[in-house]
Amino acid sequence: MMAREETDEPRIAIVGLGYVGLSTAACLASKFHVTGIDLDLAKIGLIGKGRAPFLEKGLQPLLEAHVRNGMLQCTTNYSAASDSDIVFITVGTPSSKSGEIDLSQVRSASQSIGEAIAGSNRPTTVVVKSTVIPGTTRSVVKPILEQSSGRTSGEGFGICSNPEFLREGQAIEDTLNPSRIVIGPIDQFSRDQVLSFYRKFYGAQMPPVVETSPETAELIKYSSNAFLATKISFINLIARMCEKIPGSDVNDVARGMGLDPRIGSLFLQAGPGFGGSCFPKDVQALVDYAKRLGVDPSILESTLKVNETQPDNVVSQAEKMLNRVDGKKIAVLGLAFNPNTDDIRESRAIPVIRKLVSKGAMVGAYDPMAMDGAKRELGPIITYSTNAKACVKGTDLVIIMTAWPEFMDLSNDELTRLMGGRVRILDARRIYDPARFPNAEFTAIGLGNPHD
Ligand code: UDX
Repeated sequence: MMAREETDEPRIAIVGLGYVGLSTAACLASKFHVTGIDLDLAKIGLIGKGRAPFLEKGLQPLLEAHVRNGMLQCTTNYSAASDSDIVFITVGTPSSKSGEIDLSQVRSASQSIGEAIAGSNRPTTVVVKSTVIPGTTRSVVKPILEQSSGRTSGEGFGICSNPEFLREGQAIEDTLNPSRIVIGPIDQFSRDQVLSFYRKFYGAQMPPVVETSPETAELIKYSSNAFLATKISFINLIARMCEKIPGSDVNDVARGMGLDPRIGSLFLQAGPGFGGSCFPKDVQALVDYAKRLGVDPSILESTLKVNETQPDNVVSQAEKMLNRVDGKKIAVLGLAFNPNTDDIRESRAIPVIRKLVSKGAMVGAYDPMAMDGAKRELGPIITYSTNAKACVKGTDLVIIMTAWPEFMDLSNDELTRLMGGRVRILDARRIYDPARFPNAEFTAIGLGNPHD
């Protein structure tokens, strides 16, 4: 490892190696020495061998390269924090049973970092990247760090909120090309450290910086996710209306809306609803926070309500196509909440499948990456296929639940052969042009029946 004297590049520690922490670590290690810290021994063992513990596009080769050249190390020992200039907290903030966020990992990470930097003279900045409710950096992280380190923030030691906006499956690309950097420093010291660090990393490609209070920075993260989730629920509500208007198509509505620069075309793709580890949890947390502030969160509650009922809409479309689903064979293609990931957290495929099964359907499923997770979640209530064609064979209906590129290749002839002549497709992700399946009974989210 390069000695400190040989470089004035900052040394980085990243606490919590989930998709945010590990993707960030893998990217930063192209320029800086990075130590990843996580309490999960098995995970540290894998990363130490240059192997990604989960699927994330582009992560594996970066890990391999940077573990091999010594720029990325990982450990379960927090003492590495004392040897770092910037320590990122990227631990999880799951929903507690009541819907509020559970800060226990943030608390224990802050405690351990504080203990590690106690007595050190090194100027260290602790950066809170985990998604936390406004006020957390100042009134939870700061007192724990100060108490456990015996140091005072602003005096050679700093604390800064710095939310991330990474999408799973695109976390590497989003780390390398972020739309903006949001920082909410508690003190001038951390502001200077964090800005100088990002300038060194991005150089001429430095993204726009929004500098604000820690509370505002924390709120920007929640507001961004809640707004995007609301766009999705909005278009899904319009999709339900389109389904009742002969000749209408929600995709055209979205295209027509999206060309207005005040609206924008992104995140107006109608589908079975939003899933993943962020949107459902973050909108719920913002609802709770608004209530605590005495603010009526009705828009956000409606966003969640549309999302929670959208799987019912998929199931009733299936029922319409089959008269009833009881005893029918249904192929579900796609289980991950998004393509390019094996993550099934909050995937809308799960409630759709559970509802179909509870109504007596015989469901078989296939996903290019998420089979293991789905098997753990759903167990033997459905059957699992090793590829899309095997899944579709002999079924009465195919439902597309994740927009995996490989599903787009299924042809009309192939489906006709596999389904024994009677092709029924329910495209819940709008990956197909209906004209491609001239012999099929084709229904899609947000597509009104054609005029006869
Ligand atoms: C999201 C945010 O995009 C990211 O900025 C934040 O840091 C974490 O949360 P992620 O959940 O990983 O990222 O994926 P994203 O691509 O945003 O998709 C979330 C869900 O919304 C998926 O289930 C996706 O299918 C759905 N979606 C997205 C739609 O249904 N329609 C759209 O137009 C866009």
